[in-house]
Amino acid sequence: MKTLTFQDRGSGATVVFLHGFPFDSAMWRPQLDSLAASHRVLVPDLPGFGGSPAIGAWTIDGVAKTIADWLDAIGVKEPIALAGLSMGGYLALSFTRQFPHRLRKLILADTKADPDDAQAKEGRNAMIALVNSKGSAAVASAMLPKLVGNRAKVRDAALLERVHAMMSRQCPCTVAAAIAALRDRPDATSGLLSIAVPTLVVVGAEDALTPVEKSQFLAGKIPGAKLEVIEGAGHLSNLESPARFNAALSAFL
Ligand code: MLT
Repeated sequence: MKTLTFQDRGSGATVVFLHGFPFDSAMWRPQLDSLAASHRVLVPDLPGFGGSPAIGAWTIDGVAKTIADWLDAIGVKEPIALAGLSMGGYLALSFTRQFPHRLRKLILADTKADPDDAQAKEGRNAMIALVNSKGSAAVASAMLPKLVGNRAKVRDAALLERVHAMMSRQCPCTVAAAIAALRDRPDATSGLLSIAVPTLVVVGAEDALTPVEKSQFLAGKIPGAKLEVIEGAGHLSNLESPARFNAALSAFL
């Protein structure tokens, strides 16, 4: 297997972070900086994103398996804590279903379990047409207003610029392939009741893409799950409110 590029810092119990769409490992920078003092923090670039080589077919279940293969390739055998934001959360849920024995703890941030409905699928197809005709920067511009809450929109131009640049630098072919994978992702709702590891669900109170109700549903179904709502943050809660996000993470881990 062509392996993934990744960041690896700190020592202690292993925590793996899976980024959202269409980002790369850089989106977990505030968590890497904070958590590496007490844990081994691994942050891969998902296939075709950041520095990782592209793969033929992008599917949520297939990439979750790629993550398991990558952990094998770098010698991580012990059960991990796995954190995923949005698309990273879809992957974390798939990983949990396929490899429950490899998990110690689960963190689901700004994500959901249900699949796309017909209208959402149409939106994905329009987005694929957009990236194929105008490139990744056009997708970045279309997504940006929905990604952050009001405070970041009004007062954090530097964050908006960073996020836009991160999205724009991804390869259009990977962006298109990942959108198709998001459109066709499996319904993860039926597996929630059998999740047997301690789980933290985190969401920005102003998340427009995966609203708070989706996280309430996750936390209601996953046995013993804890829900943390971050006021003043949107979909990118880990970047918009890193201190609150990291505090919730540290307390849970
Ligand atoms: C993400 O942030 O990963 C995406 O918004 C997920 C999605 O569009 O379903």
